[in-house]
Amino acid sequence: MDKEKTSDAKQHLIDYSFAAEELRKYGEVELKYLSEVIKSGILSNCLGDGKMSQRFESAFAKKVGAKNAMAKNNAMSGLVEAVSVSGAGPGFEVICDPIVHFGGLAAVFFNAVPRFADVKRDTYNMDPDSLLANITPLTKAVIVTHLWGQSAEIDTIAEICRDKGIFLIEDCAHTIGAAWKDRHVGNFGDLGVFSFQEFKQLSTGDGGMTVTNNEELFDRMRNAWWFSGESPKFLYLNYRMTEVTAAVGLAQLEKVDNIVNNTYNKTLEILNNAIKDCDWLKARNVPKEAHMSGYWWSCTWEGEQHNLYYEKFKQLEKEMNIGLRFGFNLYPAYEFPFFRESTAYRTQPDCPVRCPFYTSKSNYRYTWGLTPVTEDLMQRLITVNLIFLSIPEAEKMADRIRGIIKKMEI
Ligand SMILES: Cc1ncc(COP(=O)(O)O)c(C=O)c1O
Repeated sequence: MDKEKTSDAKQHLIDYSFAAEELRKYGEVELKYLSEVIKSGILSNCLGDGKMSQRFESAFAKKVGAKNAMAKNNAMSGLVEAVSVSGAGPGFEVICDPIVHFGGLAAVFFNAVPRFADVKRDTYNMDPDSLLANITPLTKAVIVTHLWGQSAEIDTIAEICRDKGIFLIEDCAHTIGAAWKDRHVGNFGDLGVFSFQEFKQLSTGDGGMTVTNNEELFDRMRNAWWFSGESPKFLYLNYRMTEVTAAVGLAQLEKVDNIVNNTYNKTLEILNNAIKDCDWLKARNVPKEAHMSGYWWSCTWEGEQHNLYYEKFKQLEKEMNIGLRFGFNLYPAYEFPFFRESTAYRTQPDCPVRCPFYTSKSNYRYTWGLTPVTEDLMQRLITVNLIFLSIPEAEKMADRIRGIIKKMEI
């Protein structure tokens, strides 16, 4: 398939006016909690006296069934801190999946080496067999992404990590309300990291939450977090959430089930229905153990097996202005210069702890063929971000999808 390296992420800009009025509904509840914060005279939880942050943390922990939660300025910070507390650093490897880049980036923050496991063709989530094949004596942590609202095979992955003594970080940025065997994601590993950025199921503009059921780990992280001047016991960062953000978070938490169940899950179903009789647009497989939480809709192009041309489909899609996104990032993370050219390690070329994959001692290379399933899959992915898509808009989109299917089959 065509190897043009441009992302079409910016092509589908969103009309926010509708979102503000109809979908996200920032309003009275947010204002009530914000007013409480302003009246309290304290806008930070830096010394542990931020009442709103603590209320949000307790409510969020309860919502996802975790013992503890720590509010963060965003999910990327949560992932970076998770890598730090895992002990990964120079000379260690962190296994990530290659469709999104956040796990790999978090590893590089601590000069650990991202190693990419392949995903499953039908679910797009990490393949436990590929994870196993990528474990080496240097593996310190695994960052598994529950992609686009759907849990990875997280019980199997957690068991592998427990057996091998590997720290497990769950990237739950897309998965508030998602579960595996009735257990909310974020509870299977050592840490689970959620995102509240504007384009997620729960929004505080920017924000995140790290959850854990490990009390010892929680105490260590919280103590490090509340340091007030002296250096922490391990490399830890002031990635806190402010009280103002927590007020919006607490209000949004009260609404999130309603938004997910009554909008995102419905729009997901509407788009799935549009392709249900089509042999060459294949819906994402949701295993029976997974409870999905609507976030992005996705399917794969399988047209060549039916003598159909993808380029023709893309051209028609443009003409009909449907709003589909092709390929997501188009290529796995290791195909991008940041990883491929080892940008992060290059700053000090003579450093003795330079990325081991670029020394003669290692035969691991970021080359095409590293994760063949992902490489093929990413070219075929067709997606729609559901966050700002209303039900009437999804219905219109579904009609157009049915229309393009007919046109292709003439
Ligand atoms: C899978 C995944 N992880 C982490 C992040 C980072 O989230 P944040 O923007 O809150 O830092 C994102 C953001 O889109 C994401 O999609």
